[in-house]
Amino acid sequence: MNNRIIQGDSIEVMNNMEAESVDLIFADPPYWMRVEGTLTRVEGTDFDGCDDDWDQFDTLDAYETFTRDWLKACYRILKPNGSIWVIGGMQCIYTIGGIMQKIGYWMINDVIWHKKNPTPNFMGTRLNNSHETLIWATKSKKSKFTFNYKTAKELNFDTVTEKEHNNGIRKQMGSVWRFAVCSGLERLKDINGNKLHNTQKPQELLERIVAISSNRGDLVLDPFGGTMTTGAAAKKMGRDYIMIEKDPQYCEYGELRLAEVTYEESPIANAVFDEKPIKVTVPEMIEAEVLIEGETFFLKNGEAIATLCDDGKLFYKNEKIDMHTLAAIARKVKAKRLNGFDYWYVKRGEKLISIAHIREDFRITKGQVWLQPNMF
Ligand SMILES: C[S@@+](CC[C@H](N)C(=O)[O-])C[C@H]1O[C@@H](n2cnc3c(N)ncnc32)[C@H](O)[C@@H]1O
Repeated sequence: MNNRIIQGDSIEVMNNMEAESVDLIFADPPYWMRVEGTLTRVEGTDFDGCDDDWDQFDTLDAYETFTRDWLKACYRILKPNGSIWVIGGMQCIYTIGGIMQKIGYWMINDVIWHKKNPTPNFMGTRLNNSHETLIWATKSKKSKFTFNYKTAKELNFDTVTEKEHNNGIRKQMGSVWRFAVCSGLERLKDINGNKLHNTQKPQELLERIVAISSNRGDLVLDPFGGTMTTGAAAKKMGRDYIMIEKDPQYCEYGELRLAEVTYEESPIANAVFDEKPIKVTVPEMIEAEVLIEGETFFLKNGEAIATLCDDGKLFYKNEKIDMHTLAAIARKVKAKRLNGFDYWYVKRGEKLISIAHIREDFRITKGQVWLQPNMF
């Protein structure tokens, strides 16, 4: 069933799927835009808003029933530690959010997609609607959902400029994201060269979501496939996908789009920034002779403070103290403990080398050549 576009009604399809089988869901449902009449650009041409049949509902009750049904179906197929993203505009996101909470979803974040190039408010009668909202949620408060925190930091160009990024600056990703709306060559065209779909989402947005909230090999499902943007992002990043879409024409063009996409190996796709480093203890480093029992531990300014004991503790003023507590004492800070690896140095030749550096080399070369005391 994986890596397929399924043509059909998403509620029916999902209700026939195995329970708790999906790692990540992205849903871009009908917004029920309630577009009336023709919008005209300032220069007089018609603006093609979303007035498609699939976006029509007679009443709020009907929209709520539909929303409840598909969100319940998603809830059943989502793994306990999976997560779901739902995107919506002001017309629907409050309805959707309320229903999600009633079903039992637990909110992780709401994200504002701030559009760099929004559609203008042609008549100038109210604010230009320049954002959409995404709700990110799990099945329960206890869910251990995937969040590739460091990968998100790598992808954060919302609060870090390209120049800062090139200089190694990284900041936590926030909940306001800036992407352009899908346009130009990215926008899929039908055989007559017309825009295929009114609400195609930018692939960059989906790639970010896939990268930060799933891992290689995970199964990503989108119940409202459209032009199959989610499938394209998932395939490019080495995830499996199931795309559901009721319109046969969108499915047909979507197949062509996905056939063009290939997996692209990258540190982002593999979330290498989030890989947990191998645990290394000081006694292990003593045993491997990258640290020497009895050697002096210094502060960065060269002040000799303590000596290393065989169990990894430090000997200081006739007492054995763990290196984190002693780091706080030696630095004369209020905190009871500091991360000792950030504060202690040893001498290799004439040079002071931080033990964090020595630990890093020990990790990298574990089983090969150690950074020996006499190598400097
Ligand atoms: C907002 S669009 C999704 C656009 C998509 N994210 C993209 O980037 O192209 C919603 C899509 O859901 C489809 N749809 C609406 N109701 C559906 C249903 N009950 N089952 C399956 N697909 C449905 C519509 O045909 C439409 O293509």
